[in-house]
Amino acid sequence: MIDILNRVRNKDLQAKIVTAEEAAAIIKPGMNVGTSGFTPSGYPKAVPMALAARMEKEHFQINLWTGASTGDEEDGALARADGIKFRMPYQTNNDMRKAINNGKIDYCDLHLSESAQLARYGFLGGKIDVAIVEACAITEEGNIIPTTSMGNSASYVETADVVIVEVNTTQPVELEGMHDVYVPLDPPNRLPIPIVKPNDRIGTPYIPCTPDKIKYIVPCDIPDHTRALGEIDENSRKMSHNFIELLNKEIADGRMPKNLLPLQSGVGAVANAVISGFVDSDLKDLTVFTEVIQDGMFDLIDAGKLAFASGTALSPSPEGLDRFYKNIKEYRKHIVLRPQEVANSPEVARRIGIIAMNTAIEADIYGNINSTHIMGSKMMNGIGGSGDFARNAYLTVFFTVSTAKGGAISSIVPMCSHTDHTEHDVDIIVTEQGLADLRGLSPRQRAKVIIENCAHPDFKPMLMDYYERALKETKNAHTPHILSEALSWHERFMSTGTMKK
Ligand code: COA
Repeated sequence: MIDILNRVRNKDLQAKIVTAEEAAAIIKPGMNVGTSGFTPSGYPKAVPMALAARMEKEHFQINLWTGASTGDEEDGALARADGIKFRMPYQTNNDMRKAINNGKIDYCDLHLSESAQLARYGFLGGKIDVAIVEACAITEEGNIIPTTSMGNSASYVETADVVIVEVNTTQPVELEGMHDVYVPLDPPNRLPIPIVKPNDRIGTPYIPCTPDKIKYIVPCDIPDHTRALGEIDENSRKMSHNFIELLNKEIADGRMPKNLLPLQSGVGAVANAVISGFVDSDLKDLTVFTEVIQDGMFDLIDAGKLAFASGTALSPSPEGLDRFYKNIKEYRKHIVLRPQEVANSPEVARRIGIIAMNTAIEADIYGNINSTHIMGSKMMNGIGGSGDFARNAYLTVFFTVSTAKGGAISSIVPMCSHTDHTEHDVDIIVTEQGLADLRGLSPRQRAKVIIENCAHPDFKPMLMDYYERALKETKNAHTPHILSEALSWHERFMSTGTMKK
């Protein structure tokens, strides 16, 4: 109790400390509830679990808006309680994914930079009713100090009728000062976001709020349950190596400074492995302008190679989170967490010229990318911030291992079964087989380079055969396709369990 009282610095607000059950009781069926959380970091835990328990008994649903994915205490518990009617803008939870893919949840998969603005304008089914945000402390003035993620929290607090703050006593108070909170005005009043370098600070170190807006404060001692990261395997090492070779050539050719341009790196094991690969390179004084800060970035800071990282969330493995907490005084010198509208701002990304490195589910021979759908229909996670960065980067790179499902599937296909990033956005495709530099190439030139450099040898002849027949059949058209055949690779996998003929 002493810890929570120290963290709620406004004495009057201390009278608003209640149990999770009491706070959850103000949430009514059909409400729009906006929460903190971006990846399993900085999400509320006690109130969503109490709400899920109520839903199990009372059978009702809410619409859930967040920054991005959250932990199982929120997304998992609410999905299992059949308590979500509508979800936006991103998720990664197994139970939620199942409910989305069996028609129980309507999922609006959005560019993360745009989600707060869409919410503010009321396009997502009205305005926000209740905001639930995790904090490590509340100031004397009622301002909220966030924890391991920023996400859309500031915008939700600003626009909600009612705010519930979960003060998480497992989150160190040393997080205070790591955030830079700036919520852009909406058009036509928006001003340029004054970020020129990743370490620029343009806002406040807290979410502005007043004591009267805070309805309840709930103590919570459940830690972030972050996801384990896959081992850095041989394929990831090869992809990282292939890409760093290209970067060194860009520097040698005078197209990039010695410390590169600001790096953006996507979610998951491959993205983390690629970043870790920079540790063994000669590159130094690197900067990062990204969405999530994973373990690889801590490796770079420890190696003295990363000067500064701007993001919206820490997204480490459980060991990585432990490492961050133990050395928070050092890491906080190198990291700032911003609202996702700013961290993922397409305008800033284009202007400062980032190197966007994201992972694909599949790529087609012309350079289109599927990041979201398995076999064209089933949602995996969502587009997340990949579109914010991919369309606007100086250099847009997608990584994918050349095969999936134990070699039964080729990740290079004639036509993507779903397209998130078009051929117009994609500069480089990297697999463990090699790298295709698509800059300045026509679709016919791209097809040859992608098949030759990126496809797995088991699938290369089939892909080249398709391409050559498509050329013949379309009389050398701009983007040769045999439509009746283009997606038959996916159908073949679904009927036989392999794309191989
Ligand atoms: N065809 C069919 N299934 C495929 C496939 C393919 N070509 N490639 C991968 N899969 C399956 C895998 O088998 C795995 O299935 P499983 O969960 O049943 O085992 C699943 O897709 C995920 O693949 P995995 O290799 O584990 O993915 P990952 O952790 O490297 O993540 C994405 C890859 C694309 C799913 C992930 O990066 C993502 O969600 N991206 C979109 C959002 C984004 O880029 N955010 C970052 C912006 S900052």
